Amino acid sequence: MSDEIDLKDLPGVGEKTAEKLKDEGYKDLMSIAAASSGEISGKTSIGESTAKKIIGAARNELEMGFDTASKVYEEKDDITQISTNSDKIDELIGGGIETQTISEVYGGYGSGKSQMAFQLSVNVQKEEGEGGLGKGCVFIDTENTFSPERVKEIAENHDMDPDEVLDNIYVARAYNSDHQMVLANEADEILEEQEIGLVVVDSLTGQFRADYTGRGDLAERQQKLNRHLHDLQRLAEVHNVAVFISNQVMSKPDVMFGDPTEAIGGHILHHAAAFRMYLRKGKGDTRICKLVDSPYKPEGEAPFKITEEGIVDK
Ligand SMILES: Nc1ncnc2c1ncn2[C@@H]1O[C@H](COP(=O)(O)OP(=O)(O)OP(=O)(O)O)[C@@H](O)[C@H]1O
Ligand SMILES: [Mg+2]
Repeated sequence: MSDEIDLKDLPGVGEKTAEKLKDEGYKDLMSIAAASSGEISGKTSIGESTAKKIIGAARNELEMGFDTASKVYEEKDDITQISTNSDKIDELIGGGIETQTISEVYGGYGSGKSQMAFQLSVNVQKEEGEGGLGKGCVFIDTENTFSPERVKEIAENHDMDPDEVLDNIYVARAYNSDHQMVLANEADEILEEQEIGLVVVDSLTGQFRADYTGRGDLAERQQKLNRHLHDLQRLAEVHNVAVFISNQVMSKPDVMFGDPTEAIGGHILHHAAAFRMYLRKGKGDTRICKLVDSPYKPEGEAPFKITEEGIVDK
């Protein structure tokens, strides 16, 4: 989809017509595609039937409109999955975290969010059919908690060459929320040049929380977060990579019933992440992964534990 072609290059539009359109504020293809023929002919001296053709051409150029479900299904064919290493969690979420999609994990302190991120950054490097994509990882570390030692340990326990595994993880530390956003955009270049299958942002919200603390900052924070998520979704789609984000939960002591925790970012994240997993500690060394949102899997829970091997079934 390109919005960059000059209006006069649209079939049926000469320089003069393009000028007329621009004078009335139709500066790009989308504004024309979204207009009605009556509107255009009313505002300009362009006749209604010509306007209709121009609108059609703009819509064609933008490849707008409906696809049949079978075409959508075919495109989904490109989607591949990375195993979480726990069969039960994989089963719960439909095979693993998916490319072209944002998957979110949220939970309290020490619930295993970063551990899951480390596991995935190792697993993505396994071959296809073995839970991986045979590709590397981009890791945006916003809390300074990326642990090469732990990644090494997981890799060794999977009979992988630990140094090679570390070599295939591109880590960047984000110093504040703006920097984090810049890094997400810079990741574009690495994704262009390297074989990458996974982008991790651990955590998505920490820096935003620190940078926008006042009540009045809330709207701006949500706006920025929204843009950041939009950028990440774009990365996922354009490069067919999985995006995995973590999110600390905020305690809400005033909530008397139900779960007193809520993911930061609220409804914005709710809509942005297709898959949402909630991690919590259970009895003993058991942990629970709850699938909260998925486009096609029912809600459910899977027990797991964290060992030297990483995330494993309980
Ligand atoms: N090598 C290991 N073997 C067993 N368990 C481990 C190992 N390394 C870490 N863990 C477990 O993982 C927990 C930490 O989980 P993790 O760092 O993923 O939490 P988190 O959800 O990212 O928390 P935060 O919100 O603070 O970032 C530790 O408390 C420990 O129980
Ligand atoms: Mg963490």
